[in-house]
Amino acid sequence: MAEANIYESPKLLGEYLLLHFGGATDLCHESLPVDPSITAMPFPVRCVRELLDTALLPENATALEVGCAVGGSAFELARHCSKVDASDYSSSFIAAAKTLLLEGEIAAPRAVEGAITTSFTAHVPSEIEKSCITFSVADATKLPPDLGPYDVVLAANLLCRLPDPEAFLSRASELVKPGGQLLLTTPFTWLEEYTPRDRWIGGIDPNNRSEKELLRHLSRDFRLHRRRDLPFLIREHERKYQLGIALGTCWIRN
Ligand SMILES: C[S@@+](CC[C@H](N)C(=O)[O-])C[C@H]1O[C@@H](n2cnc3c(N)ncnc32)[C@H](O)[C@@H]1O
Repeated sequence: MAEANIYESPKLLGEYLLLHFGGATDLCHESLPVDPSITAMPFPVRCVRELLDTALLPENATALEVGCAVGGSAFELARHCSKVDASDYSSSFIAAAKTLLLEGEIAAPRAVEGAITTSFTAHVPSEIEKSCITFSVADATKLPPDLGPYDVVLAANLLCRLPDPEAFLSRASELVKPGGQLLLTTPFTWLEEYTPRDRWIGGIDPNNRSEKELLRHLSRDFRLHRRRDLPFLIREHERKYQLGIALGTCWIRN
């Protein structure tokens, strides 16, 4: 039997709605010792605010997000772009993103312990112009040949979930207009269940670490414009969390 896609599970749907739309009190136990800067603004919002150089955007800029999950970054991109196409492989994530697009909110269970949950309602900030956003189910490894190009392409924490990250980077460079921005974040969590070892970008030889290898792959078509560490916190339940530190980069297309 084929392994189920964890990103279709109700558990991860709840976790990602909290990650994308939760505030500090929704997300955290009162004794959780995390820096407030990590929870003051949702991770997907910080990805856009810290990496996108809005001064470089043309009028009526267009954006593509791949691996958008429940849409937090896509809504943030809509503050700066007049068209945002966002997609993810998970149909349950995209169904939630579409509900947020239509209704502006969605309720989800928030894990407390065992089978106990409380309700959390994710809201899209009311000032965001939602009519310029589309959400669709799409496989990042099989994007349509006629897609784009865009002024901005974002892939947040997607790279180490793909079977061939290098092939994705090559495709991404075709999707960005000259002078446009490629925004990437990744914690480089290489796992053979997603990416065969011989396809990892770094992660094997201490002399060829992932960041250096990423630079090598992208420097043919891009120049590195911004680099940030972007911590993120995923709540599994009231007393269990995952703390990651994604490397965020903004690349300008030659
Ligand atoms: C670690 S999550 C990151 C989600 C979101 N970008 C964020 O930063 O919160 C990885 C996402 O990639 C999606 N994904 C995995 N494989 C994919 C593929 N082949 N094509 C498109 N999306 C994929 C998953 O459904 C999930 O939403």
